[in-house]
Amino acid sequence: MKKIIIVTGASGGIGREFALQLDGTQDCDEFWLVARNAERLTALKEKMRTPARVIAMDLQERGSLRDFHYLLEKEKPEIRTLVNGAGYGKFDLFEDISVEDNLGMIDVNCRALTVMTQICLPYMRRGANIVNVDSLSAFQPLPYVNVYAATKAYVLRFSRALNRELKPKGISVLALCPYWVNTGFFGIANKHGVIKHFDRIYEPDWVVRKAIKAMKKRREVYVPGTLAKTVRALTKVLPHSLVMRVWMKQQKLK
Ligand SMILES: NC(=O)c1ccc[n+]([C@@H]2O[C@H](COP(=O)([O-])OP(=O)(O)OC[C@H]3O[C@@H](n4cnc5c(N)ncnc54)[C@H](OP(=O)(O)O)[C@@H]3O)[C@@H](O)[C@H]2O)c1
Repeated sequence: MKKIIIVTGASGGIGREFALQLDGTQDCDEFWLVARNAERLTALKEKMRTPARVIAMDLQERGSLRDFHYLLEKEKPEIRTLVNGAGYGKFDLFEDISVEDNLGMIDVNCRALTVMTQICLPYMRRGANIVNVDSLSAFQPLPYVNVYAATKAYVLRFSRALNRELKPKGISVLALCPYWVNTGFFGIANKHGVIKHFDRIYEPDWVVRKAIKAMKKRREVYVPGTLAKTVRALTKVLPHSLVMRVWMKQQKLK
């Protein structure tokens, strides 16, 4: 039986980094690299030591997810690791973001992540890992990052509860909650410059290196970086009304 690692969002940023850093570290016959941009996935495949399959698909489309399910049923691989890395954000007033994008974030960040997890689970055995790329925004309501942060709150709750459900089967689920990371994410999310203040931007290779260690330790939630950990701690102890006021002031939002 073919042992595989699946990485969604592998065409850029955090997902691509996961593929590169997991390459050669696990007993794996093939990587399945998922995103829309086939060219970037092919370029990544060519850089990797382990054979890789390029699966160019739009996770927003139900038909693509169905096709992916058929592919699993046909190939019946053993999935060692699933990294749900695909996702996107749009930062602006809720009403100024198109309905298409507000729903699109829910579709990719929540719906597709949930479907991928569910259809991959039957092919996972004891020792397998699921990494859900979440966000620090999961811990608090965020005006102007409203729907995006809400999708990430979903990912956090979903991942943590699933981790407990899967414990008896020896399958672990990690919610990786990074602060700002230097990827193509901002070109899409912050097109209108709504977010002005970045107190710290982490590099994706460092974030993923730390995340893989957390995954190996079978952690449930991992927040990489001291400043990010401090922010998370503050969101735990301070009232969210105050946290939101500080956020608005910091970002000079009205
Ligand atoms: N960058 C940050 O500051 C930050 C912080 C916290 C959490 N995150 C989370 O990290 C994850 C990865 O983001 P990133 O920072 O690495 O950004 P990125 O460089 O923009 O990567 C996003 C990835 O998701 C894929 N993707 C987006 N929409 C898709 C769709 N409809 N179908 C298939 N694939 C799709 C993109 O591929 P294609 O465009 O080729 O489809 C790309 O590979 C996201 O979930 C994001 O929310 C990012």
